[in-house]
Amino acid sequence: MTAADAKARRGRGSDTAHQGEYALTWSDFDSIRDTLYAHAGIVLDETKVPLVYSRLAKRLRGLGMASFRDYCALLVSGEGGDERQRMMAALTTNVTRFFREPHHFDYLRTTVLPPLLERAARGASVRIWSAGCSMGQEPYSIAFTILSMMPTAPSRDIRILATDIDPNVIATARAAEYADDLVGEIAPDIRRKFLRKSATNPGSWIVDDAARELIRFNELNLMEPWPMKRTFDVLFCRNVVIYFNEETQAKLWGRYADVLAPGGSLFIGHSERISGPATSAFETVGLTAYRKVRA
Ligand SMILES: C[S@@+](CC[C@H](N)C(=O)[O-])C[C@H]1O[C@@H](n2cnc3c(N)ncnc32)[C@H](O)[C@@H]1O
Repeated sequence: MTAADAKARRGRGSDTAHQGEYALTWSDFDSIRDTLYAHAGIVLDETKVPLVYSRLAKRLRGLGMASFRDYCALLVSGEGGDERQRMMAALTTNVTRFFREPHHFDYLRTTVLPPLLERAARGASVRIWSAGCSMGQEPYSIAFTILSMMPTAPSRDIRILATDIDPNVIATARAAEYADDLVGEIAPDIRRKFLRKSATNPGSWIVDDAARELIRFNELNLMEPWPMKRTFDVLFCRNVVIYFNEETQAKLWGRYADVLAPGGSLFIGHSERISGPATSAFETVGLTAYRKVRA
């Protein structure tokens, strides 16, 4: 489709997509949208123009740039790597919560973890992946669930890999410090056991070492090759693929089927569904909860 066709199809009335301190043209918007899609698989439609403008105008100010045209030239240039990273971080949605979609944690506690922890008690390894972990609330909720069932878990071969494309959220997750209002989402008994008030920062809480020891945080773009060599017993990828198109989602489900051990569990977001050829690799075991079928 040519640029003219695209413009006609979307009924773009003028060249300007958004006018503020800087002019954002449709051509700038398309360039940003294409760069984000090429690097992160994230699809932006035109309802996201105000979001793109408000989040990236800050980058233009920070860089002392005069126009979105200059900014887009930097993004696609050989020197644009760092800025592409910052652009992705600025445009991704990082909303998350402790024990979000609590039915997943109930199922994890009652059905998935008992045999896995029994196995770990006998010396076997257990591997869990939180893909698109944002600021860490998801992997810490998994760790709290494990520790409430097996306090000795850090001395067993149990590990949670927690990854995200955005280095800022990974840094926040590693710091393991959360404000009062975020920690208020955790049941009081879990909070008492696994977090403590910060001594230096009133109004915030620090996750205890036991939970931190279970988790390895790493940057990882799901669109790129994955360095992990072994399979996972449990995979959380919730509220991430919602930003990808059908084709990207279908490929990702296939890759998840490949890295899950037979009988392994996959938890996805409330508005997401497994699609494409990988559908037959999974059986539904609950609301947006799946098990990889044994060969
Ligand atoms: C809405 S948050 C979901 C956090 C958590 N899983 C939950 O459900 O609460 C989506 C996360 O996916 C990450 N993400 C988006 N595209 C990604 C990609 N291509 N590779 C890895 N992470 C990505 C974002 O940086 C963001 O932190």
